[in-house]
Amino acid sequence: MNERLLEKIQKLTDRRNAVILAHNYQPGEIQDLADFTGDSLGLSIKAAETDAEVIVFCGVRFMAETAAILSPQKTVLLPDKSAGCPLADMITAQQLRKLKHDHPDALVVCYVNSTAEVKAESDYCCTSANAVDLVESLPPEKQIIFVPDRHLGRFAAERTGQDLILWPGYCATHVVITEDDINNMRKQHPDAIVMAHPECTEPVKALVDEILSTGQMLKFAAKSPAKCFAAATEIGIIHTLKKQNPNARFIPASDRAVCPNMKKITFDKIVASLEDMQYEIKVPQEISVKAKKSLDRMIEVLPTK
Ligand code: 13P
Repeated sequence: MNERLLEKIQKLTDRRNAVILAHNYQPGEIQDLADFTGDSLGLSIKAAETDAEVIVFCGVRFMAETAAILSPQKTVLLPDKSAGCPLADMITAQQLRKLKHDHPDALVVCYVNSTAEVKAESDYCCTSANAVDLVESLPPEKQIIFVPDRHLGRFAAERTGQDLILWPGYCATHVVITEDDINNMRKQHPDAIVMAHPECTEPVKALVDEILSTGQMLKFAAKSPAKCFAAATEIGIIHTLKKQNPNARFIPASDRAVCPNMKKITFDKIVASLEDMQYEIKVPQEISVKAKKSLDRMIEVLPTK
């Protein structure tokens, strides 16, 4: 069944001159089928670079929007139009304009998990991989507004010593991971190196060994001589970690850390997407041009870790 669908998808991607991009949180079979998998920063770079005419984005809406902004001449498809990101929707452009009005001299950094309208209102965009380096690159005397994820914002503030103005947004999937999860997991796997995504809560991050984006987790595990790792993030990353490091063990810090939106993409939906060219993600030109400036600045700042 899957073999047949795989063949069909291959034929359709050839016919459409399409590339399939998948985020590290996608179901394992979707990651295996994709031409490129990665974290938000890696996928943005890939979307900007590819020669394909069509990008099928296996991820959530803000990722497809980012691809459409970076490659306005390409057709960007999101196979499930309801695959959103509740974190991205936690601040509207109007709320951000009000915040800017209250802090007129501040620079605005938005996490890539945000709407195109919010990116258009921001000076800089960042991902979890380069948030620290990006904030560090800004003039220390400047006030900085950071939206919408308060946990990533606090992490960037701690690492850089900058006093950021934070928005109270959060990722519902990461905040379900608790201190008990980490403590229990350490008891069961005392040899594990524990990695956490910066979207986790502060008490959880205080208990772990490394705080890393999904792409950084993959790089870290590949270089480390350790043989057992736990990941406090969405469980999809475990598939890639295992695939890339067959001789090591990988454990999710919590089985409850499942993003329902990331799991909406299926083979059937990819087929329908390529057959019917659905669901095209378009960003109005006026917003796209402004948002692109903040994204271009993000791509310039590569993570040092
Ligand atoms: P990464 O950039 O680490 O892949 O994170 C993406 C994301 O959406 C986390 O919730």
